[in-house]
Amino acid sequence: MKNSPSQSEGEINTSPRRLDWVNKTHDDSTLSLLKEDAKYFLHQSISSPCLSAVSKAEGAYIEDLQGNRYLDFHGNNVHHIGYGHPRLKQAISKQMNDLPFAPRRFSCEPAVNLAKKLNEISPGNLSKVLFTTGGSDAVEVALKIARAATGRHKTISFWDSFHGAGYGASSVGGEQLFRSNIFGPLLTGSEHVAPFDCYRCPYGYPDLNGEPQLDICNMTCEKFISYVLEKEGDVAAVIAEPARAVPYIPPPDFWSRVRKACNDHGTLLIFDEIPTGLGKSGKMFACEHDKVVPDILVLGKALGGGIMPISAVLVKPEFDILGEYAIGHYTHEKNPVSTCAALTTIQIIEDEGLIENASELGLYAIERLENLKNKHPSIGDVRGRGFLFGAELVSNYQNKKPAKDLAEEVFYRCLDKGLSFKISMGNVLTFTPPLILSKSQMDFALKIISECLGEAERNQGIK
Ligand SMILES: Cc1ncc(COP(=O)(O)O)c(C=O)c1O
Repeated sequence: MKNSPSQSEGEINTSPRRLDWVNKTHDDSTLSLLKEDAKYFLHQSISSPCLSAVSKAEGAYIEDLQGNRYLDFHGNNVHHIGYGHPRLKQAISKQMNDLPFAPRRFSCEPAVNLAKKLNEISPGNLSKVLFTTGGSDAVEVALKIARAATGRHKTISFWDSFHGAGYGASSVGGEQLFRSNIFGPLLTGSEHVAPFDCYRCPYGYPDLNGEPQLDICNMTCEKFISYVLEKEGDVAAVIAEPARAVPYIPPPDFWSRVRKACNDHGTLLIFDEIPTGLGKSGKMFACEHDKVVPDILVLGKALGGGIMPISAVLVKPEFDILGEYAIGHYTHEKNPVSTCAALTTIQIIEDEGLIENASELGLYAIERLENLKNKHPSIGDVRGRGFLFGAELVSNYQNKKPAKDLAEEVFYRCLDKGLSFKISMGNVLTFTPPLILSKSQMDFALKIISECLGEAERNQGIK
């Protein structure tokens, strides 16, 4: 393996900064556990060897073996309702006692109740559903349905996107880490286009403080999708995250234009809302911001309330056409415990007004980060929606050179002060707090971010 893949995710687990931090932070018992972990687990980029070990996850916090608490602004986007929500734990325990499993061919009440609820809350008429264990599997189901429904096999998706680690999901994903030649042939016909990214337009058009200059760029990112749809002529589906988790927010009308282009070319639109769904963006589904309904919507992550692994594929009823075939047939397809967890999670999100909280506090946080630009020359761009927001760090405001090492330094400094988050694309501080976050917790995090940015900027001579 001579040619290393591009490390499109941030906070690389083999960097010298990582090693330094691990050695200086952990005591012998943690180091020994991490060593054991590295001994037994297959090593892979981003995850193993690990950064630290958790002993507790409660509310908005994780805690390591030494009792250090971190406000978790990452949480893999599973922790919308906070870790270990008491109402969810109670519902899961009760369900385990009442009915722990439903073998294939048998239905059960929790699964049907969840299907009904998803039908009720989903946009448009996405009334048919299938459950899988993980998000990647759900993406595979969506791709199978799109192929069968259109009689075509090609897809269009974005470079730099992530849709999961399975072969189909890696094929439509756009990260070398997951789709390198080392894994052999991927799905044929997986066409990719440059994504919307108004701060660093892949087509070279200028922005104004991260805002698109539509009179100049003419939304070329959307035009190119229409162009490929036209040239290929036989694309089964466009699959994308409606708001990319990096985060990147689509320019106004982007999705309605893509929706129209899909309609014009007999192509389905699949939205992968695995990280963005269930309120993360400040609406139940991120696509509601754009008022566009896909043909297939994929959910996962937070659906299991941060306890159970469950994902879902929601589909328009006219694509319920594979009754004679097996498209999912997963062992845990109608697991009463995970479906009960998902239904309870949605009820908690609704009952506790968590979407409104993410919407309001998210706006507040983005505004505060925007103001930090005056104080911190390394913040090139601030963007987001709800509790999916971030700051892109650059070493120079004018040339926008990604400040990857600075981002890593900020990350480790923030960890030292009790804030965990993720770096995307090497230099984007990506914040995805749980929807239960309070204003004082948000203020605590923003204070740490500003302090650590200042310290790292001074340390690296950025003025
Ligand atoms: C947009 C997106 N799609 C798909 C997936 C894959 O989900 P899972 O890890 O549950 O397979 C992820 C996970 O991070 C994701 O962010």
